[in-house]
This record gives sequence, C-alpha cells and structure tokens, in this order.
Amino acid sequence: MSFNSTLTIWYSANKRDLPWRKTKNPYNIWLSEIILQQTQVKQGLPYYDAFISNFPTIEDLANASETEVLKLWQGLGYYSRARNLHFSAKHISENLNSVFPKNFKGLLQLKGVGDYTASAISSICYEESVAVVDGNVYRVLARYFGIDTPINSSPAHKLFKAKAMDLIDRQKPGDFNQALMEFGAIQCTPKSPSCKDCPFSIKCVAFNQDKIATLPFKIKKAKIKK
Ligand code: ADE
Repeated sequence: MSFNSTLTIWYSANKRDLPWRKTKNPYNIWLSEIILQQTQVKQGLPYYDAFISNFPTIEDLANASETEVLKLWQGLGYYSRARNLHFSAKHISENLNSVFPKNFKGLLQLKGVGDYTASAISSICYEESVAVVDGNVYRVLARYFGIDTPINSSPAHKLFKAKAMDLIDRQKPGDFNQALMEFGAIQCTPKSPSCKDCPFSIKCVAFNQDKIATLPFKIKKAKIKK
C-alpha cells in the first residue's frame, strides 16, 4: 500500500475531533495554526475557544485592543506571535476588505505568516498542494525513510519539504498535511512511539534498523560560554 493510502486509513480511524477541523474558514485555520506553533493541541484548545468566542470574525480581532489580545494569549508565551496576529487582522480588515489572500504566495505576505502557516492555510482552506513541515513531519519522515540529515541543520527544511511534496495527496492536500502532523503527535511520538501497532512498521527504516531512538537526528550545538 502507498504511504498516502496507509496514512489516510490511519487518519480516518484516529483523528481527533477538533473545532478547527469542522471549518475551512481561513480566519479559524490561521488562528489555530498560530496557536499550535506555540503549544500542543490539548493545551491550545482552550486558547482557540477563547479567541473565537471573544473575536468570532477577523473584524472583531482587528477591532480589539492590543491589551485584550495579549490578555487572551497570556500563558502561551512568545508574544510577538499575538502582536503579529493582531497586526495582520487589522491589515486584512482595513486593506483587503476582510478577505484573506487566496493562495500560498499571497498568504506569505502577511506579517507572522511563514512557510509553515502559509502551507497549512492554503492546503486546508484552498486545497493547494503545499506540504507543511513541522516537528512532527520531520520526525515521521526521518524515521520512515531513515533520513539522518540533522533536522536543525540548514539543508534540512528544503530536503524534508521536497520529500513531503513528493508524498502529498494532490486530491486532498489539507487532509494529508493534517494527517501527517496528527500521526506524529499521536503515534510516532518523540519518546516511546507506538511501533507495535503502527501501520507503517513493515516499511519504516528506523523501526527495521533499530534507529527509532536516534532518528530524527539533531546536532548538539555547543553552548556559547560567557
Ligand atoms: N499541529 C499543528 N497543526 C496541526 C493540525 N492542523 N493537525 C494536527 N496537528 C497539528
């Protein structure tokens, strides 16, 4: 069975019921993905719910004060993410007639939106075939293909992006991306992954060569002494 078929079957049996999986509204998807860069799904859920109930639309977020926005963000850390979220909401509301950019390239122009977020929004909301690369994707692909390129080295992002672009389901890129991240979060976890009942184990290089504990590989960077 192909990688994609195995993943699709796994995802339909295991995916979590999450509020942002019930919509394709780019505002909701954007918000969820920015929050999920800061924390895991379980911890991010109450933040997502609080933002959506206080600011149901992008205009509501745009019209909020920075203090209100930062208050709802409290506890997530990295406050520049919240400031960028607010800045871009105001920009979309004031300059783009509250309409989100409709593709990957346009989304990248938004402040606070990088390759990861633009890939997530464009694939989930607009079915554009752009692969997301986050920590989960690095881990799953490094183990499955036995890739030992350090994930914190400069060639890593390009290499893993290309690998994920080869695999992406061009009919359902949004589901593919979410399934790969979900698989990394639930089954192919950093510590004690569930290899015993993993549908990929027959072909997984790390599993078959006993490299689960060493992949993904990371370079230990020397600490700079004062
Ligand atoms: N982690 C970040 N975004 C995610 C998503 N959309 N689905 C699963 N895990 C994620």
